[in-house]
Amino acid sequence: MIRELGVDHCNEAFELWNLERSVNSFVGESWSLNSIKKMVSLGDSLGYFIEERLQAFILGRRGTVWEVELLVTSPTVRRQGVMRRLFEAWKEGLPPGMEVWVEVHVRNIAGCGFYESIGFVRVGKRNSYYKDGGDALLYSFFALDAE
Ligand SMILES: CC(C)(COP(=O)(O)OP(=O)(O)OC[C@H]1O[C@@H](n2cnc3c(N)ncnc32)[C@H](O)[C@@H]1OP(=O)(O)O)[C@@H](O)C(=O)NCCC(=O)NCCS
Repeated sequence: MIRELGVDHCNEAFELWNLERSVNSFVGESWSLNSIKKMVSLGDSLGYFIEERLQAFILGRRGTVWEVELLVTSPTVRRQGVMRRLFEAWKEGLPPGMEVWVEVHVRNIAGCGFYESIGFVRVGKRNSYYKDGGDALLYSFFALDAE
C-alpha cells in the first residue's frame, strides 16, 4: 500500500537509509533523522508499506521545482517493481512541461539504472561533487505525457 510518509515513519525511513549507507557509500549525502523529518514535513514524500511496515520511500519536493532527494527500497523487496510503482504515484499531478531533477553518484549503479529505466535523461555532471571526490550525474524527467 502506498501512502504519504508521515513523521511517525521517519525512524523506519532512517533505519532503511542507515542500512543502505552501511553497505553502499554511493547512496549519496548523509541524512540524519532530523533532516529526514524536515523533508517529510514538507508533505511531498511517499512510503510503500506491507502490513504497516515501511518497505520503500521517496523523499521529494513538489514545489515550483520538483526534485527527488532520496529513494530507498528495502533489500528484501528489491527488483520487484516497488520503486517504479512508488515513483509513478509520486509524480501524479506533475504539470505538463515540468521537470523532475535528481542527482546521483556516478558509481551508484542501481540508482542510475533505476532512473534511466523509468525515463530520466542524463543532462549534466557535477565534477567532484561528493565528499569522496565522486562526480554527481544530473538527471531530468520531463512531464511529456502529463495530463
Ligand atoms: C535504486 C532502488 C531504489 C531501486 O529500487 P527497486 O524497488 O529495486 O526498483 P524496481 O524494482 O522498481 O526497479 C525498476 C527498474 O530499475 C532498474 N534497476 C533497479 N535496480 C537496479 C540495479 N541494481 N541495477 C541496474 N538497474 C536497476 C531496472 O531496470 C529495474 O527493472 P527490472 O527489475 O525489470 O530490470 C534500490 O536499488 C535502492 O534502494 N538502492 C539504494 C538506494 C539508492 O541508491 N537510491 C538512489 C539514490 S537516491
